[in-house]
Amino acid sequence: MPDTLSIIDNRTGKKYELPIQDGTIRAMDLRQIKTGPDDFGLMTYDPAFMNTANCRSAITYIDGEKGVLLYRGYPIEQLAEDSNYLETSYLILFGELPTASQQQAWTREITLHTMLHENIKKFMEGFQYDAHPMGIFLSTVGALSTFYPDAKQIFDRESRGRQTHRLIAKVPSIAAYAFRHSIGRPYVYPDNDLSFTGNFLNMLFKMTELKYQPNPVLARALDVLFILHADHEQNCSTSAMRLIGSSHVDPYSALAGAAAALYGPLHGGANEAVLRMLGEIGSVKNVPEFIKRVKNGDGNVRLMGFGHRVYKSYDPRAKVIKKIADLVFTVTGKNPLLEIALELERIALQDEYFVSRKLYPNVDFYSGLIYQAMGFPVEMFPVLFAIPRTAGWIAQWEEMLLDSDQKIARPRQIYSGPIQREYIPREKRQ
Ligand code: CMC
Repeated sequence: MPDTLSIIDNRTGKKYELPIQDGTIRAMDLRQIKTGPDDFGLMTYDPAFMNTANCRSAITYIDGEKGVLLYRGYPIEQLAEDSNYLETSYLILFGELPTASQQQAWTREITLHTMLHENIKKFMEGFQYDAHPMGIFLSTVGALSTFYPDAKQIFDRESRGRQTHRLIAKVPSIAAYAFRHSIGRPYVYPDNDLSFTGNFLNMLFKMTELKYQPNPVLARALDVLFILHADHEQNCSTSAMRLIGSSHVDPYSALAGAAAALYGPLHGGANEAVLRMLGEIGSVKNVPEFIKRVKNGDGNVRLMGFGHRVYKSYDPRAKVIKKIADLVFTVTGKNPLLEIALELERIALQDEYFVSRKLYPNVDFYSGLIYQAMGFPVEMFPVLFAIPRTAGWIAQWEEMLLDSDQKIARPRQIYSGPIQREYIPREKRQ
């Protein structure tokens, strides 16, 4: 059978044969379908891109039915077990796991770039004392473009490499400064003797001690959480990164836009909603009543941290996070909300309502519990998401720039406003 799609336009009786490649037809092939010479041609209407592939990508693969997530072909479970965030970010950015010398050079470059320009610190001081750290984070990332004008040379490979090092290295410093600013503590400079996440913990939590010693279990847990959040193909913020980047703006400006997309409660803010929900339920004995409310749709109550547009089985990231939670709680003590979360999951996984709709825990169900136990306020949750996602955003941006199929992104619309009319002088308006 040919790999084509036959279309009969019942308006004209004409038949068209469109090629099918990789399970898709090209939307531009529909343009030839016209009712007459003045007709613009057929378009597709796809709000929220529910069924539109916007790019080819070799970075991340998801099989939502089977609960599979691969970075460059490697299963997320194996990376979470054996890799670390810096190695995984190298894999995502460059396509292969680094050799020992590549890993060494990569780590050295990232370590060299962790410091922020002193003027960035001054700039951050201008924010209100209670400014949301994610607002500080995304503004500061955007401001970096003014410090590195060479970032405009987006088609220069070396320049892209320099900005990649700077971004991966500096986002934890910006995040930590934003956190310290929001709680009124002095900034802590990076300690380059420490690992990527060990240094991040140092910049967040160091007090008066001469040398901060990160707890190895917490540093490792953060490393695994960073691996799990490093990329997730064409989600809202990644699409924003590609779309803004398609205008050929510098990567700092594009990344500020991607971070803004992540800031929204439907994307990077769901784990905060999970914590609020658990707090409202308050006790294990109230769980059945809460589940009843969700099923009845009382006031549009949802079981937060459950369900996913793509995953129709257990989110593979949630499985890993659940294990990490147990480890973290051995150090921090158990988060009292954990019992409620476990009971919710236990009931939901056997309840017909959730089973028939294929609603399983997603990445956000347990991550907030861990972050809270580690001492992060909920406002920091989207920032903690943005740090590792920076690797995915840059990789997707570069892939877009080098893809000869891509141009400036410019969707079409169906115009639904008034047809052309004459301007009415002010005195004649009713
Ligand atoms: N609790 C109760 N019912 C739900 C839930 C839930 N969490 N999620 C979906 N449903 C029901 C929904 O009411 C609908 O039922 P019916 O067919 O009877 O109308 C059915 O399941 C399908 O739901 P949908 O809203 O059409 O699914 P969607 O793909 O548009 O939404 C979602 C996906 C993630 C927005 C949704 O599952 C949800 O709101 N979950 C809670 C919020 C959450 O945890 N978000 C984090 C997503 S993962 C982080 C990320 O990748 O950014």
